[in-house]
Amino acid sequence: MSEAHVVTSLHDRVLTVRFNRPDKKNALTGAMYSALAEAFTGANSNPEVRSVLILGQADCFTAGNDLVDFLAVPPNGPDSPVVRFMRSLANLEKPVIAGASGIAVGVGVTLLLHCDLVYCGEQTKLNMPFASLGICPEFASSYLLPRLMGHVRAAELLLLGEGFGAAKALEYGLVNAVLPNAEVEATARAKALQVAAMPPRASRITKMLLKKWSLPTINEAVDFEAGYFMAMLKDPEAREAMTAFMQKRKPDFSSFN
Ligand code: COA
Repeated sequence: MSEAHVVTSLHDRVLTVRFNRPDKKNALTGAMYSALAEAFTGANSNPEVRSVLILGQADCFTAGNDLVDFLAVPPNGPDSPVVRFMRSLANLEKPVIAGASGIAVGVGVTLLLHCDLVYCGEQTKLNMPFASLGICPEFASSYLLPRLMGHVRAAELLLLGEGFGAAKALEYGLVNAVLPNAEVEATARAKALQVAAMPPRASRITKMLLKKWSLPTINEAVDFEAGYFMAMLKDPEAREAMTAFMQKRKPDFSSFN
């Protein structure tokens, strides 16, 4: 059931949101996006929540969009679960802390751009293989990545779609710190508790000010990219890439121009 694939708990004013589909590397389905959107939207209006902690398991944060689900039920329009999830995280008013160890692919990387503090494991393997999958950057990454790391580094990650490690993630400014895998969750939780113990209004206003100038463009970019992303999902290039993944074979793009 979708609820079990996203587990939330509220303790000590920290809302923990955990991806919990380890048999599928925490690949995110439409139902999981809906559950995440609900949790993040609820966090905004719940005064008991002072910070939000996003986790997977020690060996896997998330392998990104569930490609099988994407082929079966492609997102369609601005109210689709994936877009509601993106808007809810981008517009979350409480500080968000992520602990990403193991695997972080696709939206598993781009969601980190919307967190306030990010900790990853020494063995974390990251990748944004959108171009390799016949689709395009999402979650405002086409706007945020060049702004964060410069054009050529963003182009390197997005155009080549090659995996990269924790050291590069730190060098490129995607994460605050790289830790032994076993320490990622405890450190992220300690930071979430630290934030939750701060004066709550000051935390919220600080975060609001940090995002005030970029948020309108982030929201515009989410919708603009989603228009391309959803159209491209139906194209033969993406269908070939995703069918090949499901059939555990190499994709063949030789007939496309
Ligand atoms: N969508 C759907 N299913 C996925 C998935 C995804 N994004 N990522 C992993 N899975 C499934 C696999 O199909 C497999 O299912 P099965 O056991 O029924 O065959 C299971 O999760 C385990 O994955 P597996 O590939 O065997 O694990 P691995 O450790 O060898 O490789 C990854 C892990 C993440 C490198 C690899 O699964 C992968 O490349 N996944 C696709 C990532 C991706 O392209 N995401 C979308 C970005 S937009």
